[in-house]
Amino acid sequence: MSISRSSLLLALAAACARGFAIPKSVHQARQIADVSDLLPAYDYVFVGGGTSALTVADRITEDPDVTVLVLEAGPFADPAAYLPPLFELTSAPQQGLGGQTYPIVLGNMVGGSSGVNSMMNLRGSAEDYDRWGRLFEEDALGWNWEGILPYFRKALNFSPPPKEVAERFNITWDASYWGSESRLHAAWPTFQYPGLDPLVAAFDEMPGVERVVDSGAGGAGVYWFPTLMDPVKHERSFALNAHYENLNRPNYHIMAEATVRRLILEGTTASAVEFQTRNSTELFTVEASKEVIMAAGAIHTPKILQVSGIGPKKVLDAAGIETIVDLPGVGQNFQDHVGIVTNITFKGLLDIHPNGFDILNNATFREWAKESWETDRSGPYSLAIENVAAWLPLTAFAPSSYEAWATELETQNHASLLPEDTHPTIVAGYAAQMQGLAAAMRSKDTVFARFKINGTLGPTNPILNQPFSRGSVNIDPTDPFGKQPVVDYRTLSNPVELKVLVEMVKWVRRYSFETSLKNLGPVDLAPGPDVVSDEEIADYLVRGGGIYPSDYHPAGTTSMMPLELGGVVDQTLRVYGVKNLRVIDTGIMPNLPGANTCQPTYGMAEKAADIIKSNV
Ligand SMILES: Cc1cc2nc3c(=O)[nH]c(=O)nc-3n(C[C@H](O)[C@H](O)[C@H](O)COP(=O)(O)OP(=O)(O)OC[C@H]3O[C@@H](n4cnc5c(N)ncnc54)[C@H](O)[C@@H]3O)c2cc1C
Ligand SMILES: *[C@@H]1O[C@H](CO)[C@@H](O)[C@H](O)[C@H]1NC(C)=O
Ligand SMILES: *[C@@H]1O[C@H](CO)[C@@H](O)[C@H](O)[C@H]1NC(C)=O
Ligand SMILES: *[C@@H]1O[C@H](CO)[C@@H](O)[C@H](O)[C@H]1NC(C)=O
Ligand SMILES: *[C@@H]1O[C@H](CO)[C@@H](O)[C@H](O)[C@H]1NC(C)=O
Ligand SMILES: *[C@@H]1O[C@H](CO)[C@@H](O)[C@H](O)[C@H]1NC(C)=O
Repeated sequence: MSISRSSLLLALAAACARGFAIPKSVHQARQIADVSDLLPAYDYVFVGGGTSALTVADRITEDPDVTVLVLEAGPFADPAAYLPPLFELTSAPQQGLGGQTYPIVLGNMVGGSSGVNSMMNLRGSAEDYDRWGRLFEEDALGWNWEGILPYFRKALNFSPPPKEVAERFNITWDASYWGSESRLHAAWPTFQYPGLDPLVAAFDEMPGVERVVDSGAGGAGVYWFPTLMDPVKHERSFALNAHYENLNRPNYHIMAEATVRRLILEGTTASAVEFQTRNSTELFTVEASKEVIMAAGAIHTPKILQVSGIGPKKVLDAAGIETIVDLPGVGQNFQDHVGIVTNITFKGLLDIHPNGFDILNNATFREWAKESWETDRSGPYSLAIENVAAWLPLTAFAPSSYEAWATELETQNHASLLPEDTHPTIVAGYAAQMQGLAAAMRSKDTVFARFKINGTLGPTNPILNQPFSRGSVNIDPTDPFGKQPVVDYRTLSNPVELKVLVEMVKWVRRYSFETSLKNLGPVDLAPGPDVVSDEEIADYLVRGGGIYPSDYHPAGTTSMMPLELGGVVDQTLRVYGVKNLRVIDTGIMPNLPGANTCQPTYGMAEKAADIIKSNV
């Protein structure tokens, strides 16, 4: 059963007639504070109210006859607040990293991780998306670069960099890769630190490093990228203010602080969702007359599917959950970007003024910075994070090694790199992905690593953008409904991964000591001058705390791949074997793009909305 728009309006009119003030939420979409205000059924019920959910919910409620409910575990929160709400989980001990555990940080608010992230705004290599499409025999819906590019344009409203900054720092861009319609903004700070000059120039001295005109062009090389913020107030632009606030949509409901416990299936049809409100242990259900849309993120979506009886039978059996649909891929194929710790300082950068320390130490500069911000939101405080980096292919940072590594990826025993009892379809999917990555290794257009620079500090911690290991997110057999799923990155389980990470350290050193940057007095504090050979660097990385298994970009756990390759959703994002159930969050990425994942999530979500609307 679904309810029409007119009966909703009637209910609101009746409430007003009873003398209630019209709640603020009427002018936005509708915030549901009490379970008794829910409709008994909605066309679409979203599990999770984060980045992907609010994007899709906005687009499908453009039709006033479609009713949507978003259930979000976190609160409505102000992202400008000092510490927005986070899920803070802990990983399982990492075998490849001396048994250490690592924090898992995720947004836990309406708007999800888009409300807490660093606002870095990238989309990665065109070839990353082409690899998604090639995993299927037929790519009828265009899950490839050409097919997703229109949705990047739809997703983001681009403002060019301010003229003086663009000229001063030689920032290039090409607006044809961007759009101008969305309420979600990509914009630029009005200030950059001049210490970037020698750092950017030194990129050009490195062999094989090319300039790419725009971060949205799908290339690999050095490029500038805008920030996920609006161009006037320089405030965070994210799913909440772009895709929920100020929409006059009585058919778009959100209930915050409502945590979904499990899905309810009739046979193999998803028909309702069971949830709890914040201060109560009571269980409530709400029906989805058309579809349930999973958008709880790559860590929580697989958990909810598994406790609902959709997942690998072995995992479900161990936890005492009855299997309704035996779907081996749920929670597998888990990936994140891998960070490494390098620390090379440059005395010479601190002689270039102003720099990031002048905000602290030079009262004149600090006053100017404050005044600029207060006057017209300009100056250093309009900077969110860095806006330039080298996004490099292996052909640039490991020119003498990539061919051997590509061959290794093609010929290695893929089953031996996954846990012993891994389902054969998961092994087949892993093998297909490694074949795809081998081809990408030989291309100068696929980003494998990010080398970010800060005008004060020099190169900051590099990121591996194409991980080679695959982990898992499974329910805890001792407490399947409990908060914490078992999150195992399995970092370094593919031996190629460590070799690439070692090469990234060596590249940062060549960049710092063998270009004109050597004139700025580089000092190697980490790994340190005593760490020289490949073996020593590897040892520093593995045992010296030189690796972070996450850059906050969990993905792949409900991947869009054929069932024979261990996939969980097809190209319409429907879960195999279940009716009326789709997934739209970062979990559907078969493999990570060479970019931070927020913009890719928005692009995917825009495409998902069209797929859902067309009812394929
Ligand atoms: C600290 C941090 C920094 C980051 N920095 C960047 C960056 O600078 N640039 C970039 O591109 N990307 C960045 N990312 C990554 C990016 O923000 C995410 O990949 C993206 O937002 C994920 O979107 P999603 O829709 O998959 O999930 P999310 O946006 O995380 O949404 C999932 C939502 O589901 C809710 N939820 C979970 N379980 C339940 C349940 N049981 N019931 C109801 N609701 C539930 C969560 O509370 C959350 O709101 C960062 C992420 C983090 C955490
Ligand atoms: C400015 O950028 C262009 C295009 O990317 C590049 O060719 C040129 O060398 C750059 N100039 C400077 C001074 O960095
Ligand atoms: C839940 O409890 C917290 C703290 O006890 C309180 O601040 C909050 O208002 C309550 N929320 C609801 C919806 O009752
Ligand atoms: C680099 O090392 C110095 C000295 O130990 C330390 O103060 C600084 O915080 C480090 N920087 C980074 C980015 O780790
Ligand atoms: C670079 O680092 C300095 C020192 O930590 C900091 O003040 C500054 O904001 C950073 N710059 C950017 C663009 O993030
Ligand atoms: C402090 O900053 C001002 C403004 O940027 C600059 O003119 C001045 O030279 C700086 N003083 C010192 C001691 O660096």
